[in-house]
Amino acid sequence: MAHRSKAMDDFFANMPNPDAMFQSWWPFLIAGGAGTLYGFRQWIRGPKCIGGAKLHNKTVIITGANGGIGREIAMNLANRGGKIVLACRNETEGKKTAEEIRKETENMDVYFMKLDLNSFQSVRDFVSRFKKKEKELHILINNAGVMMCPQETTEDGFDVQFQTNYLGHFLLTELLLDMLKESAPSRIINVTASAQNLGDIDFEDINREQKGYSPGEAYAQSKMAVALHTFQLAKRLKDTKVTCNVVNPGICNTDVYRHLPLKSKKFIRISFGPFVWMLMKYAEDGAQMAIYCATTDEVAEVSGKYFKECKEAEIDGKCIDPMLQEQLYQASLKWIKGATQAVEDGAAGGEKEKEKKAQKKEPKSDSKMERVGI
Ligand SMILES: NC(=O)c1ccc[n+]([C@@H]2O[C@H](COP(=O)([O-])OP(=O)(O)OC[C@H]3O[C@@H](n4cnc5c(N)ncnc54)[C@H](OP(=O)(O)O)[C@@H]3O)[C@@H](O)[C@H]2O)c1
Repeated sequence: MAHRSKAMDDFFANMPNPDAMFQSWWPFLIAGGAGTLYGFRQWIRGPKCIGGAKLHNKTVIITGANGGIGREIAMNLANRGGKIVLACRNETEGKKTAEEIRKETENMDVYFMKLDLNSFQSVRDFVSRFKKKEKELHILINNAGVMMCPQETTEDGFDVQFQTNYLGHFLLTELLLDMLKESAPSRIINVTASAQNLGDIDFEDINREQKGYSPGEAYAQSKMAVALHTFQLAKRLKDTKVTCNVVNPGICNTDVYRHLPLKSKKFIRISFGPFVWMLMKYAEDGAQMAIYCATTDEVAEVSGKYFKECKEAEIDGKCIDPMLQEQLYQASLKWIKGATQAVEDGAAGGEKEKEKKAQKKEPKSDSKMERVGI
């Protein structure tokens, strides 16, 4: 008969007594608690877009793709073989992200192009360069955004949140529509937030200066405009093979909160760290909505819908009000007036526009009424 070694004897001697173990509830409580915590965390993170098509020979523009949700969308779509254009305002960060995505996905068709949504000129320049470089555009993801930043006016005279989140993207989309139609089937995906349901559009004071600026209200207005625009555009594109949907990524732990105490105040950031970890999605989770709308066959022909947690969802009644959608569309055309014409004229048009603007420099309050056109 074989003898057990001393090490084996020691091992068995030191094993906890199974009877004693099962006499206590602690192991079950700990295992149950850990399981519940894990399950809850997975529920918060939401569904993943597991399927979806490969994107070989497809060209994609993603705005604000140097960080947060945009970067994760870009990484996923690059993994599917698409040609990905990261449209970002920060050149250093944009180039660095493009390099990282190329390395990680081994897709060499990922590149940066400068786009600052706070400047109509920059949007025009971007479109002009893009159209010179590329023949097709299949997916446009209007993702860039800012949230509750301090009051500031862009060089075009609009509230920064309104122009970044909505009006800059409105101009960009209008200028790329011809290419999207020619490349059809193609998809436009706009990114909104639950704040859209709290918003209203103040056409008489679009920069919300008269009643005292509230960053929260300005953010809600900009996101409501994104939703209204999506539904109006989907109607305009009814007879084309270009779809247009709007997605809500959910609450994700990203730099979009950089102007809130949660991110800007060290003490609050550290104290709330565990709650943030527990209750917020990762950027990768928030990216799933846009990835779902950009790649899956289920939504290939779906247009004018709102998506949350990778499925169609209800949206506040105001956002589907056709009169409000039309009013915003007509006002937006006036706000960007001149910009669309300028891109058709190429760079020279841009210069003309600059000259016109310089000649037109009027006191702020008067020029605002003229821009709004009411
Ligand atoms: N995170 C959330 O909880 C949440 C919830 C609902 C909706 N969203 C929406 O999701 C989208 C992505 O946000 P995120 O969470 O990923 O935030 P993020 O990490 O702050 O990313 C926002 C991106 O937009 C870019 N951007 C800002 N202003 C721009 C401009 N003028 N021109 C071009 N790009 C500009 C930023 O560039 P810089 O790096 O140069 O600033 C950044 O790349 C936003 O539309 C946001 O409103 C987010």
